Amino acid sequence: MSTTYNIGVIPGDGVGKEITREALKVLDVTAEKYGFCVQYEHFDWGCDYYLKHGIMNPGNMLDTLKDFDAIYLGCIGDANKVPDHISLKLLLDIRKGFDQYANLRPIKLYPGVYTPVKTATPENLDILVIRENTEGEYSSVGGFFKMGTPDAFAIQTGIFTYKGCERVIRYAFEMCKKRNKGCPDNGYVGMVTNCTKSNALNYSMVFWDSIYNEVAKDFPMVKTEMALVDAITMWFVKKPDYFDVVVASNLFGDIITDLGAMIQGGMGFAAGGNINPEQTYPSMFEPIHGSAPKYEGKNVINPIASIEAARMMLEHLGEEQASANIGTAVKTVLAAGQVRTRDMGGGSTTSEVGDAIAEAVRKN
Ligand code: IPM
Ligand code: MN
Repeated sequence: MSTTYNIGVIPGDGVGKEITREALKVLDVTAEKYGFCVQYEHFDWGCDYYLKHGIMNPGNMLDTLKDFDAIYLGCIGDANKVPDHISLKLLLDIRKGFDQYANLRPIKLYPGVYTPVKTATPENLDILVIRENTEGEYSSVGGFFKMGTPDAFAIQTGIFTYKGCERVIRYAFEMCKKRNKGCPDNGYVGMVTNCTKSNALNYSMVFWDSIYNEVAKDFPMVKTEMALVDAITMWFVKKPDYFDVVVASNLFGDIITDLGAMIQGGMGFAAGGNINPEQTYPSMFEPIHGSAPKYEGKNVINPIASIEAARMMLEHLGEEQASANIGTAVKTVLAAGQVRTRDMGGGSTTSEVGDAIAEAVRKN
């Protein structure tokens, strides 16, 4: 009996369907080659669902998804149909509801991919951002007051719990140990940079820093470092090879990973895993780009981020070899430089890129 993985699939909005199709194409070929099964159940939740039913997803969404081995998400949101702050709740509800508190966002450069950042090379760019994914600035606590009057105001509160900070920071240190990237400073297995802003956010980030320092004591083999988030945006560009693991709050992690995506050659290459490390709930994998509704159905979007998300999903499920094979296949296709979508200056379609990577997996 071969292992079967049950995956809940939410293709979502805009180009979500076409990039998901390519990711699953590559997954299927990989599964066949490595002798396991991947079974999908598709859910048509998203903005079109909203237009029909007045809600983005049924109220029992979490219940429906909770027994899957993992969730694969295309992309959510189409502001022409539903305001973003309403549609994107679907995504945030899953991250929070399934306690996917560690958002893994690797930043690496594939060979043959153009980066506007000249200091980054495929050999030297290898950063792993770990973003807190369930609280902080995204806690959704606040309110509007005296709306419609000259005294109108809004309050948005960030919530930083001890438990919430501790567990994600600890996870970052664990990941750093596991990566074992090494460190120019001899004697360390790697470095965890604390992305903070405690010079200005004198409660939340001071609290965050103190927890970082406390957790760091349990990892004497890991080099510690603190960097203010604004300075990190500068250093990512100036010296991208310097970083190893970066741990950040929800909003800061969100912001620096879009910058990271550009260093990787664009949003078409950046993927993420929303991880529930305890595996009490399924984890969710997605490209980090938006749904680009104007390209919907045109078969021109770069599917590499979505294929990379599928690769991360296999790694999470314990199919390390199969996952590594996808990584190699993506590299092979990109290095060959024949099959490239429009964002890379080529003329290939989304499906041609998926086909080429699936073929490379077969041949590897
Ligand atoms: C991301 C996205 C989301 C976020 C949006 C769509 C709510 O930008 O996954 O990075 O802010 O987390
Ligand atoms: Mn983002």
